[in-house]
Amino acid sequence: MARNAKAVICRELGRPVVVEEIRVDPPRRGEVTVKLGACGVCHSDLSATDGTISMPPPLVLGHEAAGEVVELGEGVASLALGDHVVSSFIYMCGKCRFCSAGRPVLCLEQGKAITTLPDGSVRTRDAGGNPLSVFSGCGVMAEYATLHVDNLVKIDPQIPFDRAALVGCAVTTGVGAVFNTAKVAPGSSVAVFGCGGVGLNVIQGARIAGAGRIVAIDTMESKLEMARRFGATDVLAVKTGEDISKQIKKIIAGGPDYAFECVGSGELVAAAYRSIRRGGLAVVVGVAKADDSTTVRTMTLPFEEKTLTGSYFGSSVPRLDFPRMLALYRSGKLMLDELITRRYPIEEAPQAFADLQAGRNARGVIVF
Ligand SMILES: NC(=O)c1ccc[n+]([C@@H]2O[C@H](COP(=O)([O-])OP(=O)(O)OC[C@H]3O[C@@H](n4cnc5c(N)ncnc54)[C@H](O)[C@@H]3O)[C@@H](O)[C@H]2O)c1
Ligand SMILES: [Zn+2]
Ligand SMILES: [Zn+2]
Repeated sequence: MARNAKAVICRELGRPVVVEEIRVDPPRRGEVTVKLGACGVCHSDLSATDGTISMPPPLVLGHEAAGEVVELGEGVASLALGDHVVSSFIYMCGKCRFCSAGRPVLCLEQGKAITTLPDGSVRTRDAGGNPLSVFSGCGVMAEYATLHVDNLVKIDPQIPFDRAALVGCAVTTGVGAVFNTAKVAPGSSVAVFGCGGVGLNVIQGARIAGAGRIVAIDTMESKLEMARRFGATDVLAVKTGEDISKQIKKIIAGGPDYAFECVGSGELVAAAYRSIRRGGLAVVVGVAKADDSTTVRTMTLPFEEKTLTGSYFGSSVPRLDFPRMLALYRSGKLMLDELITRRYPIEEAPQAFADLQAGRNARGVIVF
């Protein structure tokens, strides 16, 4: 059945988000409708509202959520009514060479569901009956959402929705970048640029992986305090535009084995690359504007054998990695409770975005 739902929407680029009553259509073949319990506010949502990430409005935001399955479309066998699920914002066709190789984040068909469901249409309409796009096949910053089953992962129902939601982006992105992309080795040294929701998860991923030194870098002192709580052994306050790589090399002689850029700036990518030791690995997690670029001194590639790479959604396989993250939470290793600085009712979504922009939260979560 079609349902009314409050949803957080970007109506106009550069303007605050708005909360509207929308209509969510029932699931078609291979889809289900989810009653959302909680949705984290990620910098990528903010980036969609200012055009950094190109997802033209009107757009239902949200890609980091957990909820309960309330309606099944035709042919859905992998999920049942009442199942608890976490959203996954990558589209995986299951058939291309990358999906076949177990690398769904690189799926060749990914472009199919950037602002729609995989079949190219949407189940969301505004009060006037006009279609609303959805963030990466999700659009889960809403009381209800209809998604394709491949954008959902079933989870243990004992885990509260607000904690589980974080696995839908920040945790899997950050911890996955450490475990899957970089494969950080025990005893190694790590630098993390940017200690927001994603960077803090890189830090705790590095701690869990047994890194010996973890240097956290941010422009805000409050973020560096959080970084210490999540496992940073050293912190560096930096001013925007300042070259921090020399200071990092003072803390870790020769430079760290790994550096993670979790802000989204070519300048910081260059600093991350400069800071790593010979043979080191710099991983770009932050999403920069489409016209941003970075520079590396070409000669350092052959003579220092450094690697610069990226990490999308923690190079994860959601059906494998979400339960893995939640198991780490249950065993007390992964800090999820501490990630949530503030919970907001949906009416306060504009405040949640303002707080994200001002850097007030580790993570802010909308609870329904
Ligand atoms: N690769 C992926 O799959 C993926 C997934 C999710 C988010 N992201 C991206 O990761 C980035 C971080 O997301 P988030 O939700 O953690 O954002 P956030 O706003 O919570 O955190 C960003 C942090 O960077 C800090 N910062 C800003 N400028 C800085 C500078 N010059 N030097 C050092 N620190 C600086 C801020 O103070 C803040 O603590 C965004 O670009 C987001 O789009 C990527
Ligand atoms: Zn995100
Ligand atoms: Zn594929």
